[in-house]
Amino acid sequence: MTAELIKGLEIAEKKRKQIKEKVEELKQQGITPGLAVILVGNNPASRSYVTGKGKASEEAGIYFELIEMPETITEEELLQEIDRVNHDEKIHGLLVQLPLPKHINEEAVIEKISPEKDVDGFHPISIGRMMIGQDTFLPCTPHGIIELVKEMQIEMSGKHVVVIGRSNIVGKPVGQLFLNENATVTYCHSKTNNLKEVAKLADILVVAVGRPKFVTADYVKEGAVVIDVGVNRLETGKLCGDVDFDDVQQTAGYITPVPKGVGPMTITMLLHNTVLSAECTK
Ligand code: GUN
Repeated sequence: MTAELIKGLEIAEKKRKQIKEKVEELKQQGITPGLAVILVGNNPASRSYVTGKGKASEEAGIYFELIEMPETITEEELLQEIDRVNHDEKIHGLLVQLPLPKHINEEAVIEKISPEKDVDGFHPISIGRMMIGQDTFLPCTPHGIIELVKEMQIEMSGKHVVVIGRSNIVGKPVGQLFLNENATVTYCHSKTNNLKEVAKLADILVVAVGRPKFVTADYVKEGAVVIDVGVNRLETGKLCGDVDFDDVQQTAGYITPVPKGVGPMTITMLLHNTVLSAECTK
């Protein structure tokens, strides 16, 4: 038996079409959703992500503003710029692309973003609201994963979800969102004992460790749902996930590919959050 493919790209395209329709409705009511992205310095990967966010925004009819600042900017100057955008009525969503240069305190920057415009869902207030199940902006990759599972009509309630990786951006919040859906959640990380045995208990296994082909078939229970959040570039230039796809495909029940799996959902949920924020101004 080979696993059923979770076609993230197709699901993302369907959702973007719905978002575009929502944007058109809002425009008819005189509201154009606006997203601003602050890019500090010239990290090529960051620039490529930001270009993708801009392109997707414009395709959905969302007004997009790219604010570029040099690597040498001071923290104070960046905080002032965030404050300006916080008060800009054209802008409903603001994010600062990470990572930032070492001389800038990332936590201070994230906390400066108005929680009302925090479409990344990274502000401690957004994270706190998510933890207690209040309405808030959910972080985009974790929310995208939940949407993929829902689209595939995979039951979450009562299931054992094992998350490998405990980053603030993916691992921790995705576990919380599964808990909010009544799953039983186990977090694993680099210090976990007997990782393979724990992973093998999962009905749904989420892998976000940033190591190419880290998870092989011996980590996976027969029929499990495997969600691969990794994006690694091999020496050949090819992209690959944190899961050894060819190996795990034989054992899993469902699996996300890389590319065209989780990735396209991240920007889709960013557009979703931006529209949600614009709707709140009605
Ligand atoms: N860097 C890598 N992923 C992200 C993201 O989702 N948001 C921001 N702001 N920076 C990132």
